[in-house]
Amino acid sequence: MLTQTDLLTKKGAYIQQMFGSIARVYDLLNTILSFNFDKSWRRFAVKVSNVTPDAKVLDVCTGTGNLAIEYSKMLNKSGKVIGSDFCHEMVKLADNKLKKKKLSDKIDVLGADTLHLPFQDNSFQVSAVAFGIRNVADLRAGITEMMRITAPDGRVVILEFSQPTNRIFKSIYYFYFKQILPFIGKLISRSKYNAYAYLPDSVLKFPDRNGLKSLMELCGLEDVKIYSRTLGIVTVHVGKKPCNHKHQCA
Ligand SMILES: C[S@@+](CC[C@H](N)C(=O)[O-])C[C@H]1O[C@@H](n2cnc3c(N)ncnc32)[C@H](O)[C@@H]1O
Repeated sequence: MLTQTDLLTKKGAYIQQMFGSIARVYDLLNTILSFNFDKSWRRFAVKVSNVTPDAKVLDVCTGTGNLAIEYSKMLNKSGKVIGSDFCHEMVKLADNKLKKKKLSDKIDVLGADTLHLPFQDNSFQVSAVAFGIRNVADLRAGITEMMRITAPDGRVVILEFSQPTNRIFKSIYYFYFKQILPFIGKLISRSKYNAYAYLPDSVLKFPDRNGLKSLMELCGLEDVKIYSRTLGIVTVHVGKKPCNHKHQCA
């Protein structure tokens, strides 16, 4: 049995098991617990990604493939999205979803650890992640790996939970986030890993919006922009891989 401490030390195998235990109810709980806002957050992340219709996009920690699906809507026949995740149950669900939605020609999903992506340097115009990078065992190494496979002048896009800035809203939101959300999450998921208590705990331990921006800059990304959504519940960070990062831009 994994404890909260185990989960918060973010050992990859533990995180894999935890997400495996909630995979089948993941989409349902996302919709309920975010009051359906999660879809508009992903749509917004895609909008600010500077993605062109013929782009190759990688969605790491893709889960059931929702961000990958949003990206695919922006692409023409020359474009391609790949979704990767190290949780077998999630990859299987994503694959089934793509088949049902007849999107298998536009999106491929595969099992891969975000810390060791099976792609060559500079392969994608955009590498993106939604609600995933917080769970990666080494945050800095995860961002560096996303940057490695991104082409010069391409974008690294991170959609993640953040801390609201308005004090009054923050206290109401935190009551919901720390007390009600874990309760409903446990009730519906029946996960023995208490994944929905891990969610607020891990968000509160994650760098704030400026901390994440600094880390992205430390990794070598430039022109990092921060977009806050829904009173700061989530942020989208978009950083550009410099042209002089080993390769020159045209
Ligand atoms: C909260 S879910 C996010 C899923 C999806 N991106 C979304 O927008 O709903 C986090 C996902 O990150 C995956 N994950 C966590 N650490 C990972 C790692 N090191 N490599 C690959 N996937 C990872 C988990 O398996 C899980 O599917």
